[in-house]
Amino acid sequence: MKIFNTIADSKVFLQKEKLSGRSIGFVPTMGALHKGHLLLLQQSQSENDITICSIYVNPIQFNNKEDLLKYPRNLQDDIAKLESIGCDVLFAPDDNEMYPSEVTKIYDFGKLDKVMEGEFRPGHFNGVAVVVKLLFDILEPHKAYFGLKDYQQLAIVKKMVEIEGLDVEIIPCEIIRESDGLAMSSRNRRLTEKERLVATAIFQNLKMLRSDFSKLKIEDLKLRAIDNINMVEGFTVEYLEIVDAESLMPVIDSQKGQKLVACVAAFLGKVRLIDNLALN
Ligand code: PAJ
Repeated sequence: MKIFNTIADSKVFLQKEKLSGRSIGFVPTMGALHKGHLLLLQQSQSENDITICSIYVNPIQFNNKEDLLKYPRNLQDDIAKLESIGCDVLFAPDDNEMYPSEVTKIYDFGKLDKVMEGEFRPGHFNGVAVVVKLLFDILEPHKAYFGLKDYQQLAIVKKMVEIEGLDVEIIPCEIIRESDGLAMSSRNRRLTEKERLVATAIFQNLKMLRSDFSKLKIEDLKLRAIDNINMVEGFTVEYLEIVDAESLMPVIDSQKGQKLVACVAAFLGKVRLIDNLALN
């Protein structure tokens, strides 16, 4: 696998590949790679000639200093995992390479970044949009792969691509879960053994919400799921919303045929977990 730390080196390599007519698939990550990331990469490998993974813990998308400091970093492990699946290129820049000067760009995402993650993590999505735009400008991929695990992030990235008029296809990928249903996440490794045992409460309640969807009112479903999760020792729900799958606006009464997604963020001890499930 080729490893580039600078924009210049990666551009030289990729320009040659593109001139030879090769298609480029890209999976941006913040490292601490798990099976969820690797499946995104494998999907890219099956659809493109060259697959690039980026690993960059983007400081401007962290609204919480402790979260940034404690974010798991293990580049050597990550390199071994990428090599084991035959990834072609790793782009792993540092802060000076990515942000030589102060970032001033502010996107207008309308209501899209005012709800859920946007409400509880102010500035987060602007930081995500800025770094993804930068990475797209550097690597110029044909396709880029994003997990449905970060449902709102996917919507923001699509919106940014539309605002900027970029020529890159955004490919959504299914959520990869542990055997007990916990959505895989780099943050899961910060859970204690005891916390890990109860972490499945999020997915269990999302599933219950889906199965009772036609039986109860949306508000009652929401309150019951929030109560159930909060009753599990260590859990504090930050939000649980049932939203329109496209606009991401919270829904009180669903319209016929309207696609809905239940999205949740909860602290388990000090670790913030998010998950979502399509309801219909
Ligand atoms: P990170 O959390 O490392 O995730 C990288 C990609 O992997 C994202 O598209 C995310 O949705 C996907 N992913 C993570 N866990 C997954 C799972 N269990 N199943 C399927 N996909 C999963 O998301 C980011 O990094 C950053 O915000 C980034 C886009 C790289 C910008 O800094």
